[in-house]
Amino acid sequence: MEDRFGHRISYLRVSITDRCNERCNYCMPRELQEWLPREEILRYEETVRLIRIAADLGVTKVRVTGGEPLTRRGVVDFVRQIPAIPGISSVGISTNGTLLGRGIDILPMGPALKAHATMAQTLRAAGVQSINVSLDTLDRERYAQITGRDFHPQVLAGIDAAIAAGFDQIKLNAVLMRGRNEDQLIPLIEFAGERNLILRFIELMPVSTTEVLTEENFLPIAEAKRAIESRYGGLIPEPSFRTNGPATYYQISGRDQRIGFIGAMTNLHFCESCNKLRLTCDGKLRPCLGSYLEFDIMKPLRAGASDDELRQFFIDVVDRKPEQHDFRDNYQPDRKMIAIGG
Ligand code: 5AD
Ligand code: SF4
Repeated sequence: MEDRFGHRISYLRVSITDRCNERCNYCMPRELQEWLPREEILRYEETVRLIRIAADLGVTKVRVTGGEPLTRRGVVDFVRQIPAIPGISSVGISTNGTLLGRGIDILPMGPALKAHATMAQTLRAAGVQSINVSLDTLDRERYAQITGRDFHPQVLAGIDAAIAAGFDQIKLNAVLMRGRNEDQLIPLIEFAGERNLILRFIELMPVSTTEVLTEENFLPIAEAKRAIESRYGGLIPEPSFRTNGPATYYQISGRDQRIGFIGAMTNLHFCESCNKLRLTCDGKLRPCLGSYLEFDIMKPLRAGASDDELRQFFIDVVDRKPEQHDFRDNYQPDRKMIAIGG
């Protein structure tokens, strides 16, 4: 699939739930959350069918998101089906990390031989190659202020569990916020360096209707880079290193450590390499995170559309993909981030 601007679509982000066990203040509005009723959420077999159709059209990479994807029951059995889809070569999960270290019972050889494993190990065994964990601060109190929950110890245990499970790649994502975690850049870099993880700093995006998304709280990548360089010396660009996303990566001089920046707001070339399409948990295809456009594929799916018809639906959506996002254009979010899936 290729859009009108030459973006080749190879990456599908799939949100499987709007629910979350945290309340990050840049993501969730403060008002009481109303979760979507179950019948408005795609069933796993519906989601798998849509991934298969996307794979027919050239999608090779899938990332499962939420809300918090690991809160949805049956998630492991769901993700196990994804690598088996012809054409899919890479499966990742984006998580807040709180549940990765949780022990779960597995039945490798029937009920007689019950074993204990962490969620992280179970996901690894199900064929997940990469895990992205959100971590904005190493300070437990600040973490609780940002996320609305005192789960910092669980997240650290979750990261340890992910390391122990041996994923091909583990990334840490930190959303930059002035006055909240600008003092955490160096501690986060040290934390990631000690564990050999890729750390990425993300600019705050107006994707939700919360009071945190203000000009004053916005901390541009350029400023973060300057602070990092004043501590470690020059950052060496690595234009040839790419993961699936829009991050640009740098090597810290004199250290064997790579960090990334996702400058959705200030990087004017941000959208040029976009390869992404999003499927929301309630069955909407979104060609761009920073655009109002969304197309309800659940409706034809549940009305009995054929694979051919659904393939055409995908192609039509990709055809409507904008050249770039509208974030800089005084964009007013119409939908909660949590329902889009990061
Ligand atoms: N701006 C930037 N990143 C955000 N995320 C959630 N809300 C926002 C926002 N308003 C991030 C989370 C997570 C990823 C899925 O999206 O921190 O790392
Ligand atoms: Fe939950 Fe992630 Fe949103 Fe935080 S950013 S409330 S962890 S979905």
